Amino acid sequence: MAVGITTEAKVGRGKPCAFIDLEQHNDERGKLSVVESGWTAGFPIRRVYYLHDLDVGSSRGGHAHRALEQLIIAVHGSFTITVDDGVNQAEYELSDAGRGLYVGPMVWRDLSNFSEGAVSLVLASLHYDEADYYRDYDEFLADARKGWL
Ligand code: TYD
Repeated sequence: MAVGITTEAKVGRGKPCAFIDLEQHNDERGKLSVVESGWTAGFPIRRVYYLHDLDVGSSRGGHAHRALEQLIIAVHGSFTITVDDGVNQAEYELSDAGRGLYVGPMVWRDLSNFSEGAVSLVLASLHYDEADYYRDYDEFLADARKGWL
């Protein structure tokens, strides 16, 4: 864990980043996890994408969204997500396909430490829109901190 970052910190000015335990139907054949648009995710799901065939040394994310909400699930393997709302930071280890990490608007996220074969499933509240992204950290920080004043 990076110095100064704790998973206890509340990150996000609205609904904070947090793990959501998924509905599960497990038996001797294996496990089945369910996400339903609306009540499980906490938002209507309009887009699904996934990161796969990742280079174990790579990092992803490196951006924030103005309005997008996401539920991120390590459906295979494990990886680390650091979240930062401009004031508070936290680090989450995703390694359980039975739960997802909620990440709301105005939260900078970095994904790293991908295990071999890791797959990151992302359920998103909005269709893809590049205008919703902050890709420059300083620009994000300036706007995020305005919201805390
Ligand atoms: P990006 O969101 O930066 O990926 P990550 O957070 O995993 O690092 O997206 C990478 C590229 O894919 C970028 O050119 C935008 C494009 N893209 C789409 O066209 N549609 C999508 O739904 C997503 C998520 C990305």
